[in-house]
Amino acid sequence: MQRIFSGIQPSGVPQLGNYLGAIRNWVSLQADHECVFCLVDMHAITTWQAPEELRRHTLTQAAILLASGIDASRHILFNQSAVSAHARLAWIFNCVTRLGWLNRMTQFKDKAGKDRENHSSGLYVYPNLMAADILAYKATRVPVGEDQKQHLELANDIAQKFNHDYGVEFFPQVEALIPTAAARVMSLRDGTKKMSKSDPSAQSRIELTDDADAIALKIRRAKTDTGVLPADVEELADRPEARNLVAIYAALADMNVQQVLDQHQGQGFGPFKAALTDVVVQAIAPIGAETTRLLGDEAHLLNILRQGAQRAQAIAEPIVSEAEKLVGFLK
Ligand code: TYM
Repeated sequence: MQRIFSGIQPSGVPQLGNYLGAIRNWVSLQADHECVFCLVDMHAITTWQAPEELRRHTLTQAAILLASGIDASRHILFNQSAVSAHARLAWIFNCVTRLGWLNRMTQFKDKAGKDRENHSSGLYVYPNLMAADILAYKATRVPVGEDQKQHLELANDIAQKFNHDYGVEFFPQVEALIPTAAARVMSLRDGTKKMSKSDPSAQSRIELTDDADAIALKIRRAKTDTGVLPADVEELADRPEARNLVAIYAALADMNVQQVLDQHQGQGFGPFKAALTDVVVQAIAPIGAETTRLLGDEAHLLNILRQGAQRAQAIAEPIVSEAEKLVGFLK
């Protein structure tokens, strides 16, 4: 059975993009993989997180993943900082990765913008920690949204250079599992920007804890053009907001975009948004309700994460110890 690793940053409440790009896939991959799912709190602090918020978001995310269908009794769910192997391997990778490789990372450029000098060095070496997350478990498959593709290519470069430098086939190559539908869900306020849990505007995203009223309001206010839904997919090409709403509908209703257009062509956004609201509420609202219930028992959640960390540690520790020996550290 192949091992899967994937992670999510507890830097806010997960949104619909996280769900469609990653979480939904994680749930179905559990059937035939050994899965390790990680709340990457060390990644989260590469940009400032108020400590109490980080703690609250980490617990909320644990609850959301369980409410979405992650089975912590059969698979592993834990927070990254609880397993020190991640930090140790990340340091080795800081010394393997070339600066030129990091300079090409588009996500750093997007996040840092023109103000590079004022960002943390953690944000810059973030992809090395991400490679360490995966390779500490020698995981071979990584389900992510499209925005993480470049980071996974870098993880493969790092694994290859490590193997080459130390003369052993130690780390495997990893395969990105990117969904075919809604691999990049866009903001409800701007169809050219990715939907993100850290966007300053809460109206730009549907959070997995939003109730039916909040979902309806956000979809009603979502930016659109003044046209109607076209008959053909090609006609959505330069209508980013319309394309995004149709893609969300298609992904949640398990249809392709053309099938959605066949059903709704000629409709204005008023009726289409009402239909979309029904589809989103049906998928998301039960997750929010179950999350609230799970958050009522914090001790239980902490216990699940603690046990997950112990099981994660049992896999990662021997792998990272071996990597340290290969490097020449006295053990
Ligand atoms: P994060 O927390 O930004 O997002 C978690 C997952 O959700 C996906 N995603 C999206 N998919 C589609 N449309 C969107 N708008 C959207 N926004 C987010 C992301 O692609 C991701 O799969 N660096 C990672 C976390 C990480 C990780 C790892 C992932 C750390 N170590 C090791 C895989 C393996 C991140 O910031 O995800």
